Amino acid sequence: MNDSFRAVRFRKLIRNVYTKRFTKYGRQPQGVFWSDLGRQQSRFKIICYQMLALAPSGIIKIADIGCGYGSLANYMREMPNCSRFVYTGYDVNPTLIDACQEHSFLPPNSFAIGDCPKVMVDFSVMSGTYNMSVTRDLTHWESYVFRCLTKCWSQSRVGMIFNMLVANKSHINDGMLYHCEVEKLRRRCMRQFGPTRVVREQSLPRDATLVVTR
Ligand SMILES: C[S@@+](CC[C@H](N)C(=O)[O-])C[C@H]1O[C@@H](n2cnc3c(N)ncnc32)[C@H](O)[C@@H]1O
Repeated sequence: MNDSFRAVRFRKLIRNVYTKRFTKYGRQPQGVFWSDLGRQQSRFKIICYQMLALAPSGIIKIADIGCGYGSLANYMREMPNCSRFVYTGYDVNPTLIDACQEHSFLPPNSFAIGDCPKVMVDFSVMSGTYNMSVTRDLTHWESYVFRCLTKCWSQSRVGMIFNMLVANKSHINDGMLYHCEVEKLRRRCMRQFGPTRVVREQSLPRDATLVVTR
């Protein structure tokens, strides 16, 4: 099977996994596989801090890729500098995009089905987007993730900020969660995209945020 066919198949499987989960738990962190609100929001905090550090003034256009039920938009609304952000959320799952369009404080056209920004933005950000694998084949999953990242990169003027689960050695665990060897991932991002930093936070020891800039 070639990479494009595999990507289509993965996308379908991803939709099914998240629809099942969301149907069971609804619009709460557990509905998109986070264990609790605190851990979901601590990832948002890191991403927002990094964007503000890279763009200290002016309007920041962001695409939230894998926006789930729109929780980052809700989080950003409470930030003191929220008016600086112009937000668009994308997700491959139509059920989740429907939920965003129905319940968000933002207009429905702030959300769309997709795996990359439809228009150029300053930042593409992804929180937890590539954590849940739908294959046990590590090489296939990593190629798929880079295929998605490449699409986002081409539409990101300043950079991409995304988090990953990390481990000493890349693997997909029994629960189908993808863990990366972060230094390897950083080097690949440097080769394929641009200067890449890894941000670690003591309270999230199994998490790393990658900040890729032009
Ligand atoms: C773990 S959830 C996180 C949702 C949200 N970012 C949050 O933190 O609440 C991952 C989300 O990414 C979406 N997703 C998975 N792969 C994707 C891809 N390649 N492009 C866009 N969305 C994707 C899923 O449908 C799901 O809504």
